[in-house]
Amino acid sequence: MAFDRVWLDLRAPADLRARDAGLLAKAIVHAGRDGRVLDLGCGTGATVRAFAAAGAQDLDWCLLDNDQALLSEARMRHPGAEIRLCDLTDLDMLPLTDVRLVSASALFDLVSEAWARRLVERLARTQIALYAALSYDGVMRWTPQDSSDAEVTERFNRHQRGDKGFGPALGPDAGARLAEMLRARGYQVLCAPSPWHLGPQDAKMQALLLSGIAEAAQEAGFAGAERWAARRRRMIARSRVEIGHLDLLAVPCDG
Ligand SMILES: C[S@@+](CC[C@H](N)C(=O)[O-])C[C@H]1O[C@@H](n2cnc3c(N)ncnc32)[C@H](O)[C@@H]1O
Repeated sequence: MAFDRVWLDLRAPADLRARDAGLLAKAIVHAGRDGRVLDLGCGTGATVRAFAAAGAQDLDWCLLDNDQALLSEARMRHPGAEIRLCDLTDLDMLPLTDVRLVSASALFDLVSEAWARRLVERLARTQIALYAALSYDGVMRWTPQDSSDAEVTERFNRHQRGDKGFGPALGPDAGARLAEMLRARGYQVLCAPSPWHLGPQDAKMQALLLSGIAEAAQEAGFAGAERWAARRRRMIARSRVEIGHLDLLAVPCDG
């Protein structure tokens, strides 16, 4: 999917409903009052809004992204935050000084195993906590069912493992692999499912999602992907889908 403002705004209500409230509350406690939080791949600032909606309105945010248009939107929506244009593939430039918590939403399924490992090493060296929400976990459950659902999911998941700028992406394995890496570096790791549950009331989001999924499945070699999407569009008024995600909070053992 393209990460434009329209798509990010469309998915925002589903993201807010999906986030695990318990992990978010614990992340807020860990950030502390006025704590500095670094949000990776911030888009328009959805993580800031999720924290604020859960009661954390006084954090010292630093928002990082490589998309100037999204950052301009984030600057308008969050004038108090520090906004930085940066390419996250270069981990050496992460401004980690005084940071209590690193956060990211819907980012880790895009990154590679090597990149995630390097990030975990950097965080572990300075004992910084990580809150990584909404990593896609490979699950798609549609009702009513279609005979091509399983094939589409398999091809989409294959596409998710392609290079998204960080090397071969972790895709659906992101949450589980990240948890393993963090535990191996001595972090206390909590995970919780955070699936989207979309129904007929989310028809606009479903329509855009169908296009993105079909395009990816087609690029991954499924010739029937567009026909699948067309069938699904015709039943959108009664269509429901669960799209699986995982939320993760990792805290240094003495944190
Ligand atoms: C799925 S969007 C999530 C945006 C936001 N966190 C949210 O939850 O709405 C992924 C974000 O990662 C950013 N991104 C992708 N690759 C990046 C890179 N190499 N450096 C910095 N940001 C990147 C995109 O521009 C986009 O804003």
